[in-house]
Amino acid sequence: MQIAIDGPAGSGKTSVARALAQHFGCLFVNTGAMYRAVALALSQGRKLSEIQIEVRPDERILLNGQDVTEQLYTPEIDELASQTATRPEVREFLITQQRALAQHRDVVMEGRDIGSVVLPDADVKLYLDASPEERARRRCHERPQQSYQEVLAQIRARDKRDGQGFGRLQIAPETIVIHTDHKSLNEVIALAISAVASALQRRNISGKLSQ
Ligand code: DC
Repeated sequence: MQIAIDGPAGSGKTSVARALAQHFGCLFVNTGAMYRAVALALSQGRKLSEIQIEVRPDERILLNGQDVTEQLYTPEIDELASQTATRPEVREFLITQQRALAQHRDVVMEGRDIGSVVLPDADVKLYLDASPEERARRRCHERPQQSYQEVLAQIRARDKRDGQGFGRLQIAPETIVIHTDHKSLNEVIALAISAVASALQRRNISGKLSQ
């Protein structure tokens, strides 16, 4: 079973994907973390061919065997990852690994291009949307050291970059769109679980539905 979740920065897709993975008994793959790990490695002077990334079931990210999870969520890596992700050779490198991860196990994979490019045949495709203002408010809770105006400007700049070129954010055909403004995380998770359960029933996939 493959569940794809796409959406812009701060739309809540990571929390929703994690909850879906737990509910349906799948491996959670956060592809943004993979782009962040590549950005970190390149900034340390490594070449793409020297980079090995491991995504663990407990969400830890290993870069060449070393746990770098704590280093991936800083304003510097936010920027670097967004720039790195525009490079076609980086996308090709990671898309191959993402498809391999989804080949032999049930996954919930989240990112920007999962339903459109990485897993176009996913059993269920979700797209979480939210206004830039709402997403900036949420990010401010996660990063209290940054001001709201600063975070909003960064989100607008990243939206612009993420919306352009190779691997741009787009809504694939047959995608269920969930608008998350003015909804709590628990409400969005409940909506996502019921949307996935109905979609799987329609497709006659009963595998883990008993959970
Ligand atoms: O979701 P995130 O903020 O952790 O992602 C980090 C960066 O990687 C973000 O700027 C967008 C990019 N990205 C991408 O281009 N494609 C993906 N599938 C996932 C993330």
